[in-house]
Amino acid sequence: MKVAISASRPSDAACLIFPIAKGGVIAPAIEAQASAVEAAAGLRFGGETGGLVELFATEGGKSVRILLVGTGEGRLADYEKAGAAVTARLLTSGVTHAAVDGAGIEAANVAHLGLGALLRAWRLDTYRTKLPEKSKPTLETVTLVSDAADLPALWATEEALAQGIAFTRELVSEPGNILYPESFVERSQHLAELGIEVSVLDEDDMANLGMGALLGVAQGSIRKPRILALRWDGTGGAQEKPLVFVGKGVTFDTGGISIKPAPGMEDMKWDMGGAGAVVGTLKALALRKAKAHVVGICGLVENMPDGNAQRPGDIVTTMSGQTVEVLNTDAEGRLVLCDALTWAQQTYNPETVIDLATLTGAMIIALGHEHGGLFANDDGLANQLLAAGLESGDKLWRFPLSDAYDKLLDSPIADIKNIGPRYAGSITAAQFIKRFVQDGVKWAHLDIAGMVWADKPGATWDKGATGYGVRLLDQLVRDHYTAN
Ligand code: BES
Ligand code: MN
Ligand code: ZN
Repeated sequence: MKVAISASRPSDAACLIFPIAKGGVIAPAIEAQASAVEAAAGLRFGGETGGLVELFATEGGKSVRILLVGTGEGRLADYEKAGAAVTARLLTSGVTHAAVDGAGIEAANVAHLGLGALLRAWRLDTYRTKLPEKSKPTLETVTLVSDAADLPALWATEEALAQGIAFTRELVSEPGNILYPESFVERSQHLAELGIEVSVLDEDDMANLGMGALLGVAQGSIRKPRILALRWDGTGGAQEKPLVFVGKGVTFDTGGISIKPAPGMEDMKWDMGGAGAVVGTLKALALRKAKAHVVGICGLVENMPDGNAQRPGDIVTTMSGQTVEVLNTDAEGRLVLCDALTWAQQTYNPETVIDLATLTGAMIIALGHEHGGLFANDDGLANQLLAAGLESGDKLWRFPLSDAYDKLLDSPIADIKNIGPRYAGSITAAQFIKRFVQDGVKWAHLDIAGMVWADKPGATWDKGATGYGVRLLDQLVRDHYTAN
């Protein structure tokens, strides 16, 4: 599906959409308005966000479908939800072209309605060879009808964001036999055409760099590990130090020798959601030509049990030189991140690093599916992220860090062990990563385990991959890391 902009209503649009504010006047600008008003009232439609009333009318002898959609309080998020509700209703409805009456609505609101509509249309049908005709999407175009002069520019930005999110969702949804470190890299190669500098480290490179922790995780799999580095500089060199994102990209997490129980293990195909969010963000930034200098790094491995897999009790040496006692091979994300983070800091010398990872099941116990967990060594950065979360809808909640938690990771035989006690599992995971943050670097860790995948449809997504993180990071860049 695509979203178009037009100053007048396209003649082939068989469905007309009228956004209505909460408690607003129901007066769609067509002949049928009397019956529409009556019917809407009868259905107790009051303009509630995402609420829908569907009607049919004849206009010039032709039958037209009319959708009244509630935009609630009129916030950007309300318009997004309204757009998403429209798509959810029309996607497989038989309608191919729908037009939104944007008359009298601010351009930013119209653009966000378009964003919601586009985001909700995303689905992955690659593997459905027997989809019944009636379940196939029919909706091809949603046209935003508005003559607001600033709409095209506003829309271009939101469309870029939607494309970044779509890429993240695609990567998150692909199963482990299709998406593994090398194929993850291949799928990201097209980003070079957008002006992103793409570089890749293979196993030999990583061995030479001494990435013993990442390689220890990878050694149980026949799939070779990779580090993918994407650099977007929209400042033309003006912003010397990039903002760096690091993503956990475990393309499948069986747990390794500390193997996970069988039920639900299929979920671990999305254990690369952090890396997925990082590449989706870079794509969005490049598409909208953001005036920012940003680097995205993905630590890509598969965690498998095997004759060559690492054992509980193994001691590995990280790129930082610190040694780790691997007590549980299922606490692999931190082993991947620590080496990726060390390399990121040594290579790009950033002031600020943010890592994203589906790191702990404990995060889901704590926050469910409403907030990602935020851990940071800098209050300013933490507050920027919290604000970007509220603004973008990708919400965060901050957790504490302290020496007392850090101590829980002391090992009797190595510098650090890779698990703490049962309690405070998300915090000790963050403390583990913190030991690899260099002095003076502002760092935030986002544990997004509960946010990457949804069991039921949400505001702008169907069940499945949400694309969480892309909007958050894009918002952060818009607010604080854009050059003038
Ligand atoms: N990828 C998992 C965390 C996870 C679990 C994400 C469920 C999403 C849903 C991670 O690698 C893991 O296995 N963590 C362990 C850590 C434990 C061994 C200290 C966990 O959370 O159980
Ligand atoms: Mn694991
Ligand atoms: Zn994992």
